[in-house]
Amino acid sequence: MTSNELRQKYLDFFKSKGHKEIPSASLVPENDPTTLFTSSGMQQLIPYLKGQAHPEGKRLTDSQPCFRSQDIEEVGDNRHTTFFEMLGNWSLGDYFKKDQLTWFWEFLTQELKLDPDKLYVSYFEGDDQIPEDTETKNIWQELGIPENHIYAYGTKKNWWSRSGTPEEMPAGEIGGPDSEVFYEFTQIEHDPKYGEKCHPNCECGRFLEIGNSVFIQYEKQENGTFKELPQKNVDFGGGLERITAVSVNEPDIFKIDLFWPIIGKIEELSKKNYSDPNEQNPMRIIADHIKAAFFLIESGVQPSNKLQGYILRRLLRRVMVKLNLYTKDQRPFLGELIDAVAEIYRATSYFPEQGEELVKQVVWEELAKFERALAQGLKEIEKIENITGKLAFDLFQTYGFPLELTEELAKEKGLEIDREEFRQEFEKHKELSRTASAGMFKGGLGEQSEVTTKYHTATHLLHAALRKVLGEHVQQKGSNITAERLRFDFSQPEKVSEEQLKEVENLVNEQIQKDLPVTSEVMDKEDALKSGALGFFTEKYGDKVTVYTIGDFSKEICGGPHVNNTKELGNFKIIKEESAGAGVRRIYAALS
Ligand code: ALA
Repeated sequence: MTSNELRQKYLDFFKSKGHKEIPSASLVPENDPTTLFTSSGMQQLIPYLKGQAHPEGKRLTDSQPCFRSQDIEEVGDNRHTTFFEMLGNWSLGDYFKKDQLTWFWEFLTQELKLDPDKLYVSYFEGDDQIPEDTETKNIWQELGIPENHIYAYGTKKNWWSRSGTPEEMPAGEIGGPDSEVFYEFTQIEHDPKYGEKCHPNCECGRFLEIGNSVFIQYEKQENGTFKELPQKNVDFGGGLERITAVSVNEPDIFKIDLFWPIIGKIEELSKKNYSDPNEQNPMRIIADHIKAAFFLIESGVQPSNKLQGYILRRLLRRVMVKLNLYTKDQRPFLGELIDAVAEIYRATSYFPEQGEELVKQVVWEELAKFERALAQGLKEIEKIENITGKLAFDLFQTYGFPLELTEELAKEKGLEIDREEFRQEFEKHKELSRTASAGMFKGGLGEQSEVTTKYHTATHLLHAALRKVLGEHVQQKGSNITAERLRFDFSQPEKVSEEQLKEVENLVNEQIQKDLPVTSEVMDKEDALKSGALGFFTEKYGDKVTVYTIGDFSKEICGGPHVNNTKELGNFKIIKEESAGAGVRRIYAALS
């Protein structure tokens, strides 16, 4: 079965169980400053998991492109990737454990015809706050799964939230116990390096996790304890690449159709063979990273030294360093790899409109920069007598030289690098970046989302005000919200004058002072547009949409959430106006 067929089979299966298919979210979340990337299907559904009504109902399904930057270092084995597609289904306070586990089992054993003898399941063993999930254990037993295929694990393995274990969750975050399904590749011998006994969560590669049913029913509170959510939810996620691989009993996910054409291209251009174990690691890294870079660029990320841009730069530079082993003229090579990625995904619903040309442009520019850095780094190495582990780490940090490359260069000079020293520097750095990303959660999600909700409503007022002052040609092109400000992009041919900006600002503040109620209503998409509700991302909406109305000033299709009354917003101030490309202007504004 091809991955395209499998994706469709999954969506059709859950539609037959009363689910509505919803469009996937962007890889870079637009209005969620707490996270850099969409790394699971549930992310766009957080307000609905917390109790808000979803316009499409209580049973939803989709296939969500995801990016996990924390897995960059893991890529290279037979199963880890940074970019993947997550098949998802959700119950928003509707069905619960019994239906979820029964249906997923039915999908695996009847639709995909996987051999039940090769399937294993896990459940949460409990901790001092949350009891053992015996309900899940019983359901698996009733489904006929033998005792020795059912495993209990603790919070590290069988508890899910975006931040990890219950201790790692900030206040305001939701999560719950989960239950994973694993596939056993009997052709792979357990490697004792990973412990005496093999088990589903062993790292040796004999077992592959193919799906996770999370029972989201708790919200962490400020005092560290957990509160039951108003509704019990199911959040299921399963990797399309992994499920495709097990459907053909293939332990190497790089051999399935979502990767193999890229690997094939690398083989052809490098004249090396993937079957050579020395080539597998670099080829897998190149294939994964170029694909991830493709979708990040399409989501509007540009290489830089900050946030998403920094991650993209790391991916591209890692590709370039590896490619350096194969060719001194990387441009045509990279061009063919980008084309290969485009071919694989052209038929999917999320293939970007602008296609592969944009990706090539960005990659060429980064290549030119990197070639300069590479030349400089090489010069630096030339100059020095002794390459310490610390220096190797600096080269890694500054120029993106992986340790292996520096080692090779050092070897040419008859030098050896202290790997332990390199590792220590690396750990130090990891700790620093962990602290930095933990900082993103400062104040807890609860507080963050209150501020961002205000900015979200302010964005609607700004949109309506711009249309009143500048004209109805103004259409939202994008927006981005942090805890400090909002950014709003809109179509407008020329600069907005000082007077016009003042007029817009006053108009927004007048609405805030009028104490206007903010109300919402679920409508058919067509009816909503006919009624005059603004909505410029029509391809992203499902058939049913939520329309938010602010007094008689603004009416817009939107997922929310919003404040209840404009008086909650305080004072609105435009900070800056600038160009954001041809025919598009950008405004930054803050509330105080
Ligand atoms: N949200 C769950 C996960 O990412 C399904 O594993």
